[in-house]
Amino acid sequence: MARSSFSVVIPASTANLGPGFDSIGLALDLYMTVDVSPAEAWDVIYEHDGFEGLAKGVDNLIVATITTIAELHECEAPISKLVVQSDIPLGKGLGSSAAAIAAGIEIANSLLGLNLSEKKKVLLGSEFEGHADNVSAALLGGVTISYFDGKEIDVVHIPKPKMGAVILVPPKGLLTEESRGLLPEQLGHSEATRSSSASSVLSAAIAQDDWETAGRMMEKDVFHEPYRKQLFLDFDAIRSVCRELGAFGMTISGAGPSLFVAVKLGTEQEVAEKLAEQFTYYECIAVRPDELGTRVK
Ligand code: HSE
Repeated sequence: MARSSFSVVIPASTANLGPGFDSIGLALDLYMTVDVSPAEAWDVIYEHDGFEGLAKGVDNLIVATITTIAELHECEAPISKLVVQSDIPLGKGLGSSAAAIAAGIEIANSLLGLNLSEKKKVLLGSEFEGHADNVSAALLGGVTISYFDGKEIDVVHIPKPKMGAVILVPPKGLLTEESRGLLPEQLGHSEATRSSSASSVLSAAIAQDDWETAGRMMEKDVFHEPYRKQLFLDFDAIRSVCRELGAFGMTISGAGPSLFVAVKLGTEQEVAEKLAEQFTYYECIAVRPDELGTRVK
């Protein structure tokens, strides 16, 4: 039975974890909540500052996702009001657009009573987002490792990774397209082989909860880090301090501009405080994996 008033909760996510470029995602315990209720016209109300630039009507990403899914199923979505609260920093490489898409998928699923399978949701999300990393993690929670070729998707889901993390969030946002524009058109065979080996070991290590090895692999990326790292103030110094603090590894969060540090579970608060003392340009936030993904309340 389709529902007309309900709430959807969606986690933030970090993507890539270094060489898992466009493939690996990890859901984090910062959340967007969307309260849905019937209305006369599509209306999106953001309850926090910082979202003023976003569309409030049919062009809003959440609404556009809902209406596109309705069209794909040859039906019309009941017009609704969406009240959004979000702790996910906007445009900071922490999956805010993937969260909006995941919200749209889950809201369409509930409003239209579609009963979409998890695989269908991640396929739709990846088609809308263009890559699978953030949106798969936002939908399923935990770690997701995806192969997506634009048409088909395979996702391996590791629901309960045992680690903590710190994200370093700079004040200025960065468009994913701008950051992707820094990447080369082509990559040499030997670099691709090396990065792909790192990605394979990273995935296997995550599956075994061997975060020592995963952290080392996170720092071996040559798919994107060498082309993007110049965007980050104090990149090398932060990596070196993270090592001194006993972190597993530090890398770019998605396309940036935030950085992601994997740490031993339970040490995230202490590491965040130490990094905050030394790197005052960044807001250092202690986080843990979200294990549930997008849920309807
Ligand atoms: N894998 C993407 C990138 C993440 O690094 O460009 C951004 O959503």
